[in-house]
Amino acid sequence: MSVIVDVAKFAAALPKVELHLHLVGSASLETVLTLARRHPDGGVPTDREELRRFYAFRDFPHFLRVYHDVNLLVNTGADVVTLLAGLAEDLAGHNVRYAEVQVTPVRNRMAGIDHDDLAQALVDGRELARTEHGVELGWIFDSDSLLGPAGAEETVDFALRQRPAGTVGIGLGGPELNVRRADFAPAFRRATEGGLRSLPHAGETVGPDEVWAAVTELGAERIGHGIGAATDPRLLEHLATHRIPLEVCPSSNVATAAVPSLAEHPLPTLVAAGVPVTLATDDPGMFHCDLTGEYRLCHEVFGFGVDELATIARTGAEAAYCTPELRTQILTEINALLPH
Ligand code: ADE
Ligand code: ZN
Repeated sequence: MSVIVDVAKFAAALPKVELHLHLVGSASLETVLTLARRHPDGGVPTDREELRRFYAFRDFPHFLRVYHDVNLLVNTGADVVTLLAGLAEDLAGHNVRYAEVQVTPVRNRMAGIDHDDLAQALVDGRELARTEHGVELGWIFDSDSLLGPAGAEETVDFALRQRPAGTVGIGLGGPELNVRRADFAPAFRRATEGGLRSLPHAGETVGPDEVWAAVTELGAERIGHGIGAATDPRLLEHLATHRIPLEVCPSSNVATAAVPSLAEHPLPTLVAAGVPVTLATDDPGMFHCDLTGEYRLCHEVFGFGVDELATIARTGAEAAYCTPELRTQILTEINALLPH
C-alpha cells in the first residue's frame, strides 16, 4: 500500500538541529528595527520597508558590510539576551531542538560588549532558551577573517578563558577572497589542543582549495558551507570517507549571490557524492528564511522526498555536539515520523 505524505507538513514536523547560524544575523526585522531606533545614527534604516531594501545584497562583500552595521547596534549584554530570546522562539516554532550559534566576541567587543558581559549574557540566554522554549543552545566562537590571525587568537582566548556553558568550538567567518585559511592554523591548533572543535567556514564563495586548507591546516571537523568542494571529486571523496559534514545554507548562498540561483546550487552533487550534508539558515533574519523552508525547498527544487529529508535531519543530529541523550531522542523522533 502506498502512503501519500504531504512533504511540506513532514518538513515542518521533522525534529531538527541547526548547526550554522550567526547570532546577529538571526535577529528578526522587528528586533533590528527596535535596535536601529535606539541608535538612529547607526546607518541602519528605522523603517520596515527601508530595512527590507537594506537587506537586498548586491554581492558577498556588500552583505558583510551590512552585517557589520547591524552588529554595531548590539551594544550590551541585555541586547544579546534579547537576540537569543527571539532566536529561541523562532527555532522552537520550527521544531529545532538544538542549535549551535556562531558568536563573534571580537566584533561584540568592538560594539561595546566586554568579554565578561558577553559570557554572562550567553549563560543567561541559554538558560532562557531551554526553560522558556525547550531549545538547547551551543556556542561556536568565530572570528572574522578580516581581523586576521590576531582576531582569531583573541577569539580563542575568549573561548578558553570564559568557556560559558554550551561552548562547542571555534569558527572562522568573513571573506575568503585574498584571505588564506592556513594563516589561522596556529589559533586553531591552540583551540583544539584546549579541547575545542574546529568548525570553520570554507568554500562559501571560493572553490575547493580553501576547503582543502580547512581540512588539512585547520583540522576542520565540520565545514560551514563547503559548497566550493563540489567541483573536486577527490575532495568530495575525502569528505565522504572521513565523514566531514558540510553545513549547507541554500537560501543564504542565493541571497549573498554566492550561487546564481537555487536551481544551480550544488547541494544535489554533494548529496550524490555521499558527503554528509546538514541544512542550515546562516543569517535567517537577513535572508528571510527559516529551517523548515530550507527542507521544503530541497523537495521543491531538488525533488528530495521524505526519505532524503529524514536522512539530512539525521545527519544533522549525528553531526551535532549535543549530549548523546538529546541526539538519541531526536533520532528516535525522526524515525517515528517516517511512514511505516
Ligand atoms: N558572517 C555572518 N554571516 C556570514 C557568512 N555567511 N559567511 C561568512 N561570514 C559571515
Ligand atoms: Zn556563516
